[in-house]
Amino acid sequence: MSSTDPAPAAAVIPADAFAVLTEWLPTNDDHARPLIALATVDAEGRPDSRSVLLSEFDEGGFFVHTDSRSRKVADVAAHPEVAFSIAWPAELRQLTVQGVARRASTEEEQVAYSRRSRYLQLLAWLNSPEFALRPAGEREEAWAEFDAAHPDGTLTPPQTWLGFVIEPTRITFWNGTPLTASRRTEYRRAADGTWSTATLPG
Ligand SMILES: Cc1cc2nc3c(=O)[nH]c(=O)nc-3n(C[C@H](O)[C@H](O)[C@H](O)COP(=O)(O)O)c2cc1C
Repeated sequence: MSSTDPAPAAAVIPADAFAVLTEWLPTNDDHARPLIALATVDAEGRPDSRSVLLSEFDEGGFFVHTDSRSRKVADVAAHPEVAFSIAWPAELRQLTVQGVARRASTEEEQVAYSRRSRYLQLLAWLNSPEFALRPAGEREEAWAEFDAAHPDGTLTPPQTWLGFVIEPTRITFWNGTPLTASRRTEYRRAADGTWSTATLPG
């Protein structure tokens, strides 16, 4: 972690699970962020999922960032319980997490925004429903104008930029091997905060 990092959240993830996460996921300062499939449930109980970048993780949970007008934000308001998965087929690995999404701190949101690529920083500003409806040429022109008016390093997060930390209640590591059956190592958090582990078939 660098000096610009927000203070890490209180530890939620058990140390041995965190050690595996550290081995499987890129470090938070790696520009190539992993893509997760994030599942939510809306107020009527209908499931949805979409790809989002895993911005960072620490002992307290997994951070994602999004636009406050997106469906996932309304879903989380109705049902904070979420899940995500990420697979590395070449490494014969899959990580699945079930947890509770809570709003990240302002400090964390700012750090995450500052780490986004220039394109994604601009996108956070221009990704509005109104912008999407404009004709292609106009959208390119408006993008270029906004880009030129805001030199690199001057942009701060828009009001609509929002982060969630997913505090895990279940973490499942799937390991495959061509030589025998795959299997999973699962960590489950009980209501009192204690964790138990189980080995399951793949
Ligand atoms: C490669 C890729 C990365 C994406 N990363 C994000 C992201 O980090 N945050 C985000 O809000 N949307 C991201 N999106 C867009 C989402 O998949 C989705 O279309 C958008 O967030 C609206 O989703 P919702 O209305 O279901 O909440 C990404 C899409 C792709 C294809």
